[in-house]
Amino acid sequence: MTMQSAVAEPTSTTREPVLSLKKVSKGFGAVRALTDIDLDIYPGEVVAIVGDNGAGKSTLVKILAGVHPQDSGTISFDGQVVSIPTPTASRALGIATVFQDLALCDNLDVVSNLFLGREIVRGISMDEEEMEQRSWTLLRQLSAKIPSVRIAVASLSGGQRQTVAIARSLIGEPSVVILDEPTAALGVAQTAEVLNLVERLRERGLGVLLISHNMADVQAVADRVVVLRLGRNNGDFHVADVSYEEIISAITGATDNVVTRRASAHAVQAAADNAAAAPVEAPIAEAEAVAAPSAGSVTEALPNNATGIDADSEENR
Ligand SMILES: Nc1ncnc2c1ncn2[C@@H]1O[C@H](COP(=O)(O)OP(=O)(O)OP(=O)(O)O)[C@@H](O)[C@H]1O
Ligand SMILES: [Mg+2]
Repeated sequence: MTMQSAVAEPTSTTREPVLSLKKVSKGFGAVRALTDIDLDIYPGEVVAIVGDNGAGKSTLVKILAGVHPQDSGTISFDGQVVSIPTPTASRALGIATVFQDLALCDNLDVVSNLFLGREIVRGISMDEEEMEQRSWTLLRQLSAKIPSVRIAVASLSGGQRQTVAIARSLIGEPSVVILDEPTAALGVAQTAEVLNLVERLRERGLGVLLISHNMADVQAVADRVVVLRLGRNNGDFHVADVSYEEIISAITGATDNVVTRRASAHAVQAAADNAAAAPVEAPIAEAEAVAAPSAGSVTEALPNNATGIDADSEENR
């Protein structure tokens, strides 16, 4: 990885992000869940958000879904600064969120779940035929493997249920779809099905935000991977340019990673040069301080955007 690739350029040919966050912060009492988060999502791009437990992924999703308002920072949608005070406001903008629990009604069939709350009516009754037709069209577009749209969702497999939840999110014709851990509870074949579905969303020109703990999924389907660590941006990589180890280093903040090793080598060399140039009568303590910089001073010397590594690391707090 080169230093330049630490902050990835967008993968889409369109230069205008559909969704853009600038310096978004959110606290819960004394807990700073998110601090100064920057994030851009372009149309036709799958961006994976990864990070350890408590890194702030769900908080980010909830801000975009209108569950929690951010404390500070701006969110722009299609170039306009917006506020997202409620889930309805989020949906109205064109952001569809599929939460991990899916929120499907098990006793209802696929059609009823897809159109729940948005039923098509003709006269005084529901137009079941039209809804069924549209359900098939949508599921076919997604190459979804659902045996029947008239069976109760309870009898579908985990992957099929995920498919129904994603299909339902598309009924409102969103521009951005957020998927929170869509494959967490799925087996190998079902995971592959859901990843295919994510590719269909990208083909439709949607911006997809994929929250995942699974690096294999991320590397299989995402265009970019954005790392959160302790509520801060800690890397933004093109998936094609980054190794598994580099993503893991950014997630864990391991000090022994490719970026910090490079930084340390430069700093030690600079310190050695300084020490060689220092007057002989310099106090011993001062010379030692120059020759052995602390880990903190090394990281702080590097601009965030050049390294992808947060200067305000856990060790410095
Ligand atoms: N409603 C809340 N009230 C208080 N603290 C919260 C709340 N929601 C999240 N937090 C805190 O904010 C931080 C970020 O949590 P968040 O759920 O966003 O992490 P996450 O990256 O989704 O983690 P996980 O991978 O475990 O789901 C954590 O320290 C968490 O305890
Ligand atoms: Mg979470």
